[in-house]
Amino acid sequence: THPPAHSEFSPVTLPPESLTARPDPRRFPPRFTWGVATAAYQVEGAAREDGRGPSIWDTFSHTPGRVKGGDTGDVACDHYHRLEADLDLIASLGVNAYRFSVAWPRVQPTGRGAVNPKGLDFYSRLVDGLLARGVTPWLTLYHWDLPQALQDTGGWASRDTAHAFGEYAGIVAAGLGDRVRHFITINEPWCAAFLGYGIGIHAPGHTDLARSYAAAHHLLVGHGLAVQAVRAHAPGAQVGITLNLYEGYPATDTPADRAATRRQDGFQNRWYLDPVYGRGYPQDILDLLGDASPHAQGLALPGDTELMGAPTDFLGVNMYSRAVVEDAPGDGWLHSRQVRPEGSEYTGFDWEVAPHSLTDLLLRVQRDYDPPAVYVTENGATYPDTVETDGTVNDEARTRYFQMHVAALQPALDGGAKVGGYFAWSLMDNFEWAEGYEKRFGIVHVDFGTQARTVKASGRWYADFLARTHAEV
Ligand code: NOJ
Repeated sequence: THPPAHSEFSPVTLPPESLTARPDPRRFPPRFTWGVATAAYQVEGAAREDGRGPSIWDTFSHTPGRVKGGDTGDVACDHYHRLEADLDLIASLGVNAYRFSVAWPRVQPTGRGAVNPKGLDFYSRLVDGLLARGVTPWLTLYHWDLPQALQDTGGWASRDTAHAFGEYAGIVAAGLGDRVRHFITINEPWCAAFLGYGIGIHAPGHTDLARSYAAAHHLLVGHGLAVQAVRAHAPGAQVGITLNLYEGYPATDTPADRAATRRQDGFQNRWYLDPVYGRGYPQDILDLLGDASPHAQGLALPGDTELMGAPTDFLGVNMYSRAVVEDAPGDGWLHSRQVRPEGSEYTGFDWEVAPHSLTDLLLRVQRDYDPPAVYVTENGATYPDTVETDGTVNDEARTRYFQMHVAALQPALDGGAKVGGYFAWSLMDNFEWAEGYEKRFGIVHVDFGTQARTVKASGRWYADFLARTHAEV
């Protein structure tokens, strides 16, 4: 996002009360899910151990110029070797859920064929360790670390990858489904497709609009196949998908900006929500895509609408910010542009802090799609942290960010959104993809030299808040 190029831009102001709101721990339902989240490639390290095959993120991060500072996930938080201590850390926060992802290339080193028992065993120990500590595992099957061997045969641009993913999902569900009751098929397909194949800032680094829509389609087909596999191999388990959604607001209250906001919403949100809820793709975006659409490319097969719309038990929503949009004729194929409202607060990624948009988003998703349940599977912020001499981090801005966003759940619940839980991103500082280790999202600080973990002020606030959610009044 860039600042608006012209001066007559009138900022969309935020409701000031949303920026000072503090959540009331006693106003949440007693069985609310409160968690922290991570993803395999971002924390595990041990990239070549116990039979793990290479993933597209190993290849990408080892390609000079792709990741800031030349950082890779080779070691990351060394979580693979520090499992028991990290499980104790999770439990010490008082959360009742932990969202993690399984590295496909640990389970199937080439993405197909025989299972690598050591790979599956790591996750089995992780799950047992969580359950022993009273923490419910939430397992993401795909958080971007595609086995490189599958990329070599086309990656998500190839329909075969979706079928391979369905088989892998069945393997994980069969191996862990006796203990894992919550499965997320795919994390943020928009990022995997658009950042990975459209603008190339994520693995595999392609820049081709048509290919990115081929990838988007096969990710959604893969989601449907994975839902079927989880149903078959882990009967009774809950399964859903996690989408990164941004509520859109027109930069000015004009028909042109409102239409641009609708297009942006189609690109970012409806392109995924509509098919997941059985409606197929939004026609306005198909029209704009023209030759690049899955249909025009001959990739949408009979039955795909039903497959992508396989009934799910919940929707996972990753929310970080909102989109303020203006009409921009001739700008890309969407003819719209995101603007940067002046006078707003921004995180270290230059993402606008817009907690009220979380309320709006949850109410809108409930109204438009009526999911049986919604979980905020990620929410958080990066800021440049200052580490005190004693190792502590007084991350006031991040703490406020969490307070405002948790508070934003309350009006959504009051308004009828079926919000079942919330996961803070992230348990600890980790490998932030193309940004390497520089951008920290943790509520626990990680010293990447020593691997020491120190709970930040935000983590202490979260733990204290959670303790008060089940305190007797
Ligand atoms: C979304 C992604 O799922 C996660 O991997 C990433 O670290 C956070 N957002 C922050 O950018």
